[in-house]
Amino acid sequence: MKTFGYFDDKNREYVITNPATPFPWINYLGNEDFFGLISNTAGGYDFYKDAKFRRITRYRYNGVPMDAGGRYFYINDGEAIWSPGWKPCKTPLDSYECRHGMNYTRITGSKNGVEASVLFFVPLKTWAEVQKLTLRNTTDEVKRLKIFSFTEWCLWNAATDMENFQRNWSTGEVEIENGSTIYHKTEYKERRNHYAFYALTNAKANGYDTDRESFIGLYNGFEAPQCVVAGKPSNSVAHGWSPIASHYVEVELKPGESKDFIFVLGYEENEQKQKFAPLSGKTAERDRNTEGTLITSLGELDHTIINKDKAHAVIQRFSTVEAVDADFEELRQMWDGLLSKFTVKSGDERLDRMVNIWNQYQCMITFCFSRSASFFESGVGRGMGFRDSNQDLVGFVHQVPSRARQRIIDIASTQFPDGGCYHQYQPLTKRGNNDIGGGFNDDPCWLIFGTVAYIKETGDFSILDEMVPWDNEPGTEVTLFEHLRISFNHVVENLGPHMLPLIGRADWNDCLNLNCFSWDPNESFQTTENNSEGSKAESLMIAGLFVLTGKQYVELCQEMAKRGHNDGAAAYTKEADRAQGCIDAMVEAVKKHGWDGEWYLRAYDFYGNKIGSKECEEGKIFIESQGFCTMAGIGMEEGMVEKALDSCKKYLDCEHGMVLNNPAFTRYYVEMGEISSYPAGYKENAGIFCHNNPWVIIGETVARRGNDAWEHYTKICPAWIKDQTLHKIEPYVYCQMVAGKDAAKPGEGKNSWLTGTAAWNWLTITQYILGIRPTYDGLEIDPCIPETLKEYTVRRVLRDATFDITVKNPDGRQSGVRSITLDGKTIEHTTIPATPGHHTVEVLM
Ligand code: GLC
Ligand code: GLC
Repeated sequence: MKTFGYFDDKNREYVITNPATPFPWINYLGNEDFFGLISNTAGGYDFYKDAKFRRITRYRYNGVPMDAGGRYFYINDGEAIWSPGWKPCKTPLDSYECRHGMNYTRITGSKNGVEASVLFFVPLKTWAEVQKLTLRNTTDEVKRLKIFSFTEWCLWNAATDMENFQRNWSTGEVEIENGSTIYHKTEYKERRNHYAFYALTNAKANGYDTDRESFIGLYNGFEAPQCVVAGKPSNSVAHGWSPIASHYVEVELKPGESKDFIFVLGYEENEQKQKFAPLSGKTAERDRNTEGTLITSLGELDHTIINKDKAHAVIQRFSTVEAVDADFEELRQMWDGLLSKFTVKSGDERLDRMVNIWNQYQCMITFCFSRSASFFESGVGRGMGFRDSNQDLVGFVHQVPSRARQRIIDIASTQFPDGGCYHQYQPLTKRGNNDIGGGFNDDPCWLIFGTVAYIKETGDFSILDEMVPWDNEPGTEVTLFEHLRISFNHVVENLGPHMLPLIGRADWNDCLNLNCFSWDPNESFQTTENNSEGSKAESLMIAGLFVLTGKQYVELCQEMAKRGHNDGAAAYTKEADRAQGCIDAMVEAVKKHGWDGEWYLRAYDFYGNKIGSKECEEGKIFIESQGFCTMAGIGMEEGMVEKALDSCKKYLDCEHGMVLNNPAFTRYYVEMGEISSYPAGYKENAGIFCHNNPWVIIGETVARRGNDAWEHYTKICPAWIKDQTLHKIEPYVYCQMVAGKDAAKPGEGKNSWLTGTAAWNWLTITQYILGIRPTYDGLEIDPCIPETLKEYTVRRVLRDATFDITVKNPDGRQSGVRSITLDGKTIEHTTIPATPGHHTVEVLM
């Protein structure tokens, strides 16, 4: 089978050896404010915080050819014109390699005896992408090269950038400083307080271009810009149209010689009062001001020269190779730290690389981006999801708890006073997104889920006392605990005729639109007003989620009572009892009205008809309710959990994982909405939605079936992918969806990177299969593994304690702990306290 790359675990890299991957295989640069997406051929773009409102470089989604545009270097060596990343020139290379690592990418290509290697990364706490280009002459003759850098500016708003041309083609402006730094000052003279720049910092450029048409030629593509072909820049100054930034550098390399060039693509903000450089409007003064030449689109009379102090500082900071290398080393060390909180040695390198490297890395990425920017998410449509972000933070909280804490506060601040929530908010403003609004009735439960995970990781109960507003309205603040209570109540106060939760607009499955009834193709299923008034539509998924997170809420109240939190022990106990009553009632309702004989129903529709029942013609069984009701253990004693899990295997499973529903819908059902709009086998209509596979896997561990849990786990785990051509997308991260058994091409992946799959599989493998689970007091040890796994060790750092845990399974069991010794002493329970210091734990199954 054809492969396009391999894992280099020692360096924590995925190495791509053939640039013509079946789809662009991307990576992410930056992890806090300034971000970049980069493909294995250097395609992609940068943005600051918000991929919609602060898009810095331009990218064309769904272009032809795929993935055109990015940060490119062109090399004209007199014989050939080539790029180290193969694209855009696509000149056949003598060698090519792309290494995607933790927040950096290194692309190396060689041609005609010259090797060009570019390291791309965003230094910590920096609003800039640094590109270190290393050119090496591997021959014994002198090489004379003409190098062109290239990037294209986006006019800031990624949405209007692609539609409002009557304005855009007149607004683009630049400044060019000393011929080496190109500033993107579009709209700077009016309301924007930000600008971007692209600098060559450790050498002087021999020319530049800032106007796309002058550089590329109107009818050329990225593969053959006319300036590169001619071997000569045009020193163009952009006026409107499409501003770009390109440096031209002449390089001579002696035999064996190598040279480094540092390029910095940065973003800065200035306060209103300091926006402009002081000047009187005369060129001479302006020149003195910047100690060199300054050319601006606005010409002689530009009164709006950017105050460049901040850019200068960044350029200065990254003007030596030593400085860049030191920053790169810092980034590496940060990742050493992040990945040291949980490591496993299992004897299976696939498992180890997922747990120790890639699953954790993806969790960081989903935490940063929610569902906003990937090669499937354009960065303009969706901000931070309420439910999505709560789930993502659960996969990330052990890495940087303080960031998870802040995220919880931000999310909760978008909640409405009745417990309902904005479904999304914008990362830049942190405000709820009015375009989509609220009404997704699963949303509130996820706040409990996220907060509990945070407290169990950190032991920080103080977060519950944080004062958090409703809908960001100053003066409305209540404690975070109050938000949780109202969240819990939101479900209880919105029950339907079977005493099951009303679904509202949709539950976790955004496409099960039971109150939508849309016949208008111009209407979005996601935003159309729903007809929930008078609706009987109820969700078994929310029922299961409510029981699961409700139990967490009860446990939290009990814990607070135990700790005498805020001296309210009695009140918390009372609240715990009240909540337990609601949960018991929900469990009864599920058993009575939510069980179909072999599995849990999925929902009741607007009219009160069953969805996900053997009585249905299509969509007889759905995965979400099986996952949540089994995780919650509903009907365990009655055998429901095992039966439901068996049904998942029987009806949903296939060689690539479990599909969402079966049989797939083959017609449009107006009472179900978007789910039935997808062709069979794709997305929410019987695709393998990887996000919900782990729910069933955790369900399997609740039923103590380690072999089954493991089998399901490995089916969707990237490290087990065999056929890279079929799978198509990155083999190092989870994707949202793999085409299901009813699809034209079962096994083909889509929507890689930004998916709750990352966090849920992290939870599944670490807490439920390997069974190392944070509790309020410490770590609970509860493995549920395949009988073939005879021994593994885990190092887990929890708060100020480090545990080296060895689990031995000599008899090939699937679950059950026979004994535990902590620092040499046998303990009677399965929870080890988080006492500061280093501890050795031996577990015998
Ligand atoms: C997408 C959404 C998520 C939703 C899921 C199922 O992944 O981001 O919020 O739960 O689809 O529809
Ligand atoms: C579509 C997708 C779904 C996603 C939703 C959010 O319905 O199928 O996965 O959650 O859009 O916008």
